[in-house]
Amino acid sequence: MIEPYPPPSEIGDILVTTDELRTRVEELGAEIAADLGGRTPLLVGVLKGSVIFIADLMRAIVGPVEIDFMAVSSYGDATESSGVVKIVKDLDGGVAGRDVILVEDIIDSGLTMAYLVDYLSGQGPASLRTCSLLVREGRTAPGVHLDYVGFELPPAFVVGYGLDVGQRYRNLPYIATYSPSDPSIDVDVVEDAGGAKV
Ligand code: IMP
Ligand code: MG
Repeated sequence: MIEPYPPPSEIGDILVTTDELRTRVEELGAEIAADLGGRTPLLVGVLKGSVIFIADLMRAIVGPVEIDFMAVSSYGDATESSGVVKIVKDLDGGVAGRDVILVEDIIDSGLTMAYLVDYLSGQGPASLRTCSLLVREGRTAPGVHLDYVGFELPPAFVVGYGLDVGQRYRNLPYIATYSPSDPSIDVDVVEDAGGAKV
């Protein structure tokens, strides 16, 4: 028998629907295009969580737009962000003189975003703005202004629209809570083997 997908035993409430995602991403794209005033933005996506968001966001920007990607992994203790980030994949092109928009899926501790802002701002971009689809209520990236935010979420672990648990559920077309009915399944499985949090 084919199991239903996603399994109701693991996926809880839908916090952001497909329609809400579409509407908000359209708004963010229009805002970015207006703020850039005709200059070509370089969207820098943080792999892998931002791929669905960035694919929709770039289509919501009417006008020229370029994308590039970085991948990072957290060093150290797997369950607590240390703020020490290792670059696993660097940009293909440079950001010097570019109008850069750093695109994340979710701000949790914000340490990944803070590290990447520091890293990219050291390379002489013309401007550097930050964009995150999701932010946990009450959280922020330390020392970083978040220019574009899609939605604020309560402190539940979520999946869908690019966000995963152990690489699963990125393809759900909405944001839902991850709530396994089997309590032995630990949310820490978000950490890939080797502590990489991508
Ligand atoms: P931060 O450095 O603690 O802000 O780490 C943020 C990263 O952790 C995000 O880019 C995600 O990859 C991952 N993450 C944090 N919270 C969640 C969640 O609820 N679901 C899926 N991934 C998450
Ligand atoms: Mg991520």
